Amino acid sequence: MSRLIKTPVSRRSLIKGAGTLAAASAVPTGWAIAQAKPLKVGLMLPYSGTFAKLGENITIAIEQLIAEKGGKLGGRDIQIIKLDDESKPENGPQNAERLVKRDAVDVLIGTVHSGVQMGIHKVVRESSTLCIVPNAGVNTVTREQCAKNVFRTSFTNWQPAYGMGLAAGKKYKKAAWITWDYAAGAESGQGFKDGFEKGGGQVTKTLTLKFPETNFQPLLAQIPDLGVDVVGAFFAGGGAVQFVKEYKAAGLKAPLCGSGFLTEGVLGPQGDAAEGIETALHYGDGIDNPQNAAFRKTFKEKAQRDADVYAVQGYDAAQLLAIGLEAVKGKIEDEANLYKAMRAAKFASPRGPVSMSPSQEVVHHIYLRRATKGENKVVGIAAASLSDPGTGCKLS
Ligand code: PHB
Repeated sequence: MSRLIKTPVSRRSLIKGAGTLAAASAVPTGWAIAQAKPLKVGLMLPYSGTFAKLGENITIAIEQLIAEKGGKLGGRDIQIIKLDDESKPENGPQNAERLVKRDAVDVLIGTVHSGVQMGIHKVVRESSTLCIVPNAGVNTVTREQCAKNVFRTSFTNWQPAYGMGLAAGKKYKKAAWITWDYAAGAESGQGFKDGFEKGGGQVTKTLTLKFPETNFQPLLAQIPDLGVDVVGAFFAGGGAVQFVKEYKAAGLKAPLCGSGFLTEGVLGPQGDAAEGIETALHYGDGIDNPQNAAFRKTFKEKAQRDADVYAVQGYDAAQLLAIGLEAVKGKIEDEANLYKAMRAAKFASPRGPVSMSPSQEVVHHIYLRRATKGENKVVGIAAASLSDPGTGCKLS
């Protein structure tokens, strides 16, 4: 049995076959052994580079949820296997294969960077491995290329940027969008434009630089001549720290706003430069519910720093996995019932109530926040219970 589980090719069907055999012969080998084995959860996340802290917070929060469940999900012990993807898209497929084939993980939770996600997506679709996305927002994962074994507890790139665009479009007429030139930046830009136009304004210019470059000066120098009333941005992690500081130092008239990642988890190092910046995100400071209070307290004890949206997304990835595994009592091979329970999941996230859309994307409020004295203070709801359109997804 254990030899079969390690066989890389069609591991899942061999496990299923072994279970059936054991049941038929009434010998307590197959299921008994399979049930006793820990469930392998692969974490493919950035633990180095500009997104390192994002990957760490996701990991800490996943471990927090598992610990709160007594170390077991659906009655199964959990074995975590971590892999640093370095936010390098070129290594994405190979890294995902290492987890799925060499380490034979039962579930892959990953990742942060949209480009790397596409490598994971290819591998998990081909191998039918359960995948839960705890950050990367690349739209197609829950749109054209949606798959029954892929769920996301974070956002689509479109969602928070749409919320920001909607709020800003009601206040300003002309906007520019500035970002890294990769999927997350471009798709957020589209979300911002959709929202801004719906609010009544017009996005007249997009400025980009390569990921993860931080040579912002040539772009900032163009802004005064654009005649825009507001600038929207997508940057995150270390890049966001530097961008916000340089935007402030440039003394530009147009206020800065953006997808909430711009100021998320980075207000400390951004200091005064972030004061007053408005962003939209599915999390923020001041969300008053018992789950959030308990989550933040435990996270802080464990991590020695405050929780942020990345931590929440990791926690909810583990919550969703727990819901699925509890429904099938740890028998992850029972795909039909596992996915059914995960699709129907409605749970109390620290961010507020969440559910899953037909394309297996999280549905949640997008909050409007204002950076105030080191906090992303929630000042309103930019878009209530916002579901991604899921365009092109055939799951139903
Ligand atoms: C992404 O690449 O999808 C991404 C990365 C960092 C974020 C948000 C989205 O904070």
